[in-house]
Amino acid sequence: MRYKVDFLVIGSGIAGLTYALKVAPYGKVIIVTKDAAAESNTRYAQGGIAAVMYTPDTYEKHVQDTITAGAGLCDEKIVRITITESTERIKELINWGTNFDKTESGKYDLAKEGGHSEYRVLHHKDGTGAEIIRALIEQAQNHPNIEILENYFAVNLITQHHLGKIVNKKTADVSCFGAYVLNPETNLIDTILSKFTLMATGGSGNVYSTTTNPAIATGDGVAMTYRAKGKVENMEFIQFHPTSLYNPGERPSFLISEALRGFGAILKTVDGKEFMQKYDKRKSLAPRDIVARAIDNEMKISGDDHVCLDCRHLNKNDLINHFPNIYAKCFSIGIDIAKDMIPVVPAAHYSCGGIKTDEFGRTSIHNLYAAGECACTGLHGANRLASNSLLEALVFAHRASEDSILKINSVTINNEIPDWNAEGTVLNEEMVLITQTLKELQFIMSNYVGIVRSDLRLKRALDRLEIIFRETEDIYEKSILTRKICELRNLINIAYIIIKMAIHRKESRGLHFSLNYPKITN
Ligand code: FAD
Ligand code: SIN
Repeated sequence: MRYKVDFLVIGSGIAGLTYALKVAPYGKVIIVTKDAAAESNTRYAQGGIAAVMYTPDTYEKHVQDTITAGAGLCDEKIVRITITESTERIKELINWGTNFDKTESGKYDLAKEGGHSEYRVLHHKDGTGAEIIRALIEQAQNHPNIEILENYFAVNLITQHHLGKIVNKKTADVSCFGAYVLNPETNLIDTILSKFTLMATGGSGNVYSTTTNPAIATGDGVAMTYRAKGKVENMEFIQFHPTSLYNPGERPSFLISEALRGFGAILKTVDGKEFMQKYDKRKSLAPRDIVARAIDNEMKISGDDHVCLDCRHLNKNDLINHFPNIYAKCFSIGIDIAKDMIPVVPAAHYSCGGIKTDEFGRTSIHNLYAAGECACTGLHGANRLASNSLLEALVFAHRASEDSILKINSVTINNEIPDWNAEGTVLNEEMVLITQTLKELQFIMSNYVGIVRSDLRLKRALDRLEIIFRETEDIYEKSILTRKICELRNLINIAYIIIKMAIHRKESRGLHFSLNYPKITN
């Protein structure tokens, strides 16, 4: 199949859907999404979305909290844009039908999370992402200009490379003409030609053994853009959420929202002793990098497999009312959070780096935008402030839509692009090789490129990765493509970028901590 559209959106999370809804009045939109439309990181977001709504909060306070968390690497201009546009974007989300919880006085019920100096997190109980995605999908499905292709997997971006024009990496002046996409009905690769493409493929948590991210988070967009010679940055800054439920064998790990600590829950060792006072004066509500490293250290000292989160001093009815999903999940595995401490461990959660974009979501590749978790706008720097990612996705999907709409009449579709050439490939019957290689990759990343790194661990990771990289490229080149082989290849690309950027960073800053450079730079 060969499609021609004005706007191609890859991904149906908050970023992709927001952009699609905004550009749809100006042309035909196709959203390709590799699973059911609702399946995304967005759907699992619990705590909420940070925005300045009422006094005593101010834009300046939110700006300063973001910059402090970012450990000296935030782009201040981008931080100011994001925060000052937050209220407007939230109003839009509400107009699209999203329900946020309110207090009895009719004001929005704002929560607090680590690193925030004010209560400013809008939420829908502890299932904010599911509520946002419900509202956005309903809008997109009812829009006559938007077609959603579910279970279609974007394999590669189309650039002049596909016209046989070699692109020199150093002088790269690359344009994007759409994407090659795996059609689930024919198992063939379709060509989707577009004037503009938005990369909105989300995170890459599955590069690690333990992650809060659903199976779709395999870094596809960053890997595709990197292969197309687009700029990628800050990938060494992987955020480990301090508190995922310790429930061995469960994947993804169930998140125990930071909002629970904002509500008064306290981190303790298995034998019930508080420990965060040793690491930071903000204790359990210090920024995530500090809390995750403290937990990692406590587990190493005690030899325990987890630490605990204690809610036993909190009112049971309030707990159930504010955190119904967390209460029910814990109860389902025999933990009554009003009576028992919750066993928790850190888990890979968020990629602060990604495809480098400017203030309009423009990447280094012409006509390719990126927004959401796959993008690196400069907002998060070396560590993301909790609940700033949904906000970032909204703000930059909006800004990218404005830029695309302005240019719509000056860009044409490139009709010379050839269809995908699958000559000489055969069905790969050794699926077990793919599954095993994925486990090896996750082992390498979790053991050598986790919360605490060192030069030696990173070198070991790179050496091991080179072997599985060669083996996987070999399978990829000979195989009829499947989603699994493409995802594995993308995750290996992501691991390579993370390791290379981590090796390059000769300091400890934000989420990147190295035993060789233990003095923390801010
Ligand atoms: P996603 O929502 O992940 O969407 C990506 C989309 O791209 C999906 O539809 C996926 O199927 C599709 N896709 C990926 N690759 C391909 C491909 N090759 N071809 C086709 N489609 C593809 N942030 C907050 O601000 N507040 C929170 O409270 C919060 N809680 C969180 C809780 C959990 C458990 C998790 C995992 C994350 C949380 N985050 C939170 C982070 C936040 O949810 C994400 O950063 C954000 O939702 C990312 O949105 P997105 O649109 O960029 O990507
Ligand atoms: C959480 O609810 O703890 C997740 C918030 C986030 O990742 O921003």
